[in-house]
Amino acid sequence: MFSYYMPTRILVGENVVRNNASAFALGRKAIIVTGRSSAQKCGALNDVTDALNKIGVSYDVYDKIENNPTVECAYYGGRFAKDHGADFIIGIGGGSPMDASKAIAVYAVNDIEPMQIFDGNFVNKPLPIIAVPTTAGTGSEVTPYSILTLTKEQTKRNFTCEDCFPKIAFLDGRYTVKLPIQVARNTAVDAMCHAIEGYLNNRATAASDYIALETLRLIGECLPALKSGDFSVPICEKLLFAASLGGIVISQAGTTIVHSMGYQLTFFKDIPHGMANGMLIGAFLDWCGDVCGEKIARVVEAIGLSSVCEFKELMKKLLVNESLFTDEEIEAYLKISMNAKLASAPKTVTIDGERDIYRKSLL
Ligand SMILES: [Fe+2]
Repeated sequence: MFSYYMPTRILVGENVVRNNASAFALGRKAIIVTGRSSAQKCGALNDVTDALNKIGVSYDVYDKIENNPTVECAYYGGRFAKDHGADFIIGIGGGSPMDASKAIAVYAVNDIEPMQIFDGNFVNKPLPIIAVPTTAGTGSEVTPYSILTLTKEQTKRNFTCEDCFPKIAFLDGRYTVKLPIQVARNTAVDAMCHAIEGYLNNRATAASDYIALETLRLIGECLPALKSGDFSVPICEKLLFAASLGGIVISQAGTTIVHSMGYQLTFFKDIPHGMANGMLIGAFLDWCGDVCGEKIARVVEAIGLSSVCEFKELMKKLLVNESLFTDEEIEAYLKISMNAKLASAPKTVTIDGERDIYRKSLL
């Protein structure tokens, strides 16, 4: 028994924003949510504003989203959207602007305290959201999730709202073709982790499994480019599509402890999200190998590799971590990561199990 729900319309191809301007007619006033400069540099912001001008939709830009946005940052974005009379939100960027867009869409129409968003304690439906990813990894363009940083709690927390599935996702490989190679690698590894964690966790369904293996197969086809840095628009389009498929996997099945443990590496050491996951995923596979060995073999095969060992070598090749860790730091991370919801893990999570994964990965 399972259900499958994925309400986002996905439009894919070169110049897909300019060629589908009428799809932006979700209201009279849009708030565009971006980081400081990447949406502009890759051409996505220009394409979107041209499309809005073409169909006579007015807009304002909220460009204050930093990496790993805090709840407060999204809350002020919500005030901005409300003060500017937004009818809908357009998130352009990597996971940070897209995740923030979802929270902004909630805050814009609900007078709540910032932290109330995590209880689902709001009455009004969020504003409609359009997502334009400029990295290929997060999959946020097709999920109802928003991951926000909690400064006081020293970690990140997920808020989920079915109405936060973006209405439309525009995927154009032109937006990611000039990404710095390490960003392209980190984000591709994040997409792989979405597929692997979704495939191995106990909320996986027949539908999410099918999509997870296809995600891994597509990323496997892009490995030569990820290794060499020789990206073309078609390769980038394939990676973007794969990342969206990975997003669909987690929209059905969720992630598991690789993500909840990785958040600490990002919070305390500023390690990019995808890299943090990639540093932990090999030891995670060792940890759950006794209960899902067959599925792990299919993961490895789908990527086009022959063993878990080869997969770990691939992670080492793609990721460059220079941070050093101590036992004390690991104990501090464990205190936080053991507070996360762990029910979806493929086997019972114990503090010793997580300690082992951290130690094998970081020391
Ligand atoms: Fe992720």
